[in-house]
Amino acid sequence: MSDSKSVKKLRVDKILSHLGISTRSESKKLVKQGRVLVDGVAIKDSGLQVNPEIAKIEVDGEAVHYREFIYLLLNKPQGVVSATEDKWDDTVIDLLEAQYIAFEPFPVGRLDKDTEGLLLLTNDGQLAHELLSPRKHVPKTYEASVLGAVDEADGVAFRNGVTLDDGYETMPAELEIIRQFEQEGEIHSEIRLTIMEGKFHQVKRMFEAVGKKVVYLKRISMGPLQLDPELALGDYRELYPEELEALRNR
Ligand code: URA
Repeated sequence: MSDSKSVKKLRVDKILSHLGISTRSESKKLVKQGRVLVDGVAIKDSGLQVNPEIAKIEVDGEAVHYREFIYLLLNKPQGVVSATEDKWDDTVIDLLEAQYIAFEPFPVGRLDKDTEGLLLLTNDGQLAHELLSPRKHVPKTYEASVLGAVDEADGVAFRNGVTLDDGYETMPAELEIIRQFEQEGEIHSEIRLTIMEGKFHQVKRMFEAVGKKVVYLKRISMGPLQLDPELALGDYRELYPEELEALRNR
């Protein structure tokens, strides 16, 4: 984990652009106009180096709160891809305000374009790496609507591991059957599934392995993080300090 106390001196214009407050050339103008103060004194050079953890920076009388990393909890809607750029589709980054995009966040792992739910976005590469490491077995829980009558035999199969279409044997997973209902003469099942790994299309392929089809998929948790019911689809918020603490300590 990167230690924020290790932040060394940075140029004021770099700090302001990192925080999405102004571009380098805008900073130059702001400084020229005497609108940028460091420790109460208007600075003359936007390239002045300060320790952003210690220096009190103000722009137009407003204090600038420096942080190196951001952590955003997104309720991903369908139709956007879990990437920072895409030729054809909107990405999860397109859902963010400029002040957050300035931090250059990226999604921690992937949800399919048609999957909804919890997606963490950050620019903290180390934390992302730890959460994604196959050795860490971070549990991820999904809710799904499945075409077909999911039953206890599927639960046993998932607990023992199933063979995916490419021959991969899945690790033990926990299935909970929430309810079953009939629609247009077909049985549908609502389930919860917790997996400890994150292979491509894993949940969909696990159900394919037992002859059933996922028709709706939503992630509701990842490690200690839970999807916030207050977040509408497409909405996001910064992690609360206790959520970040829990992620770091897991
Ligand atoms: N499993 C899937 O099949 N799709 C997802 O988006 C996530 C897990």
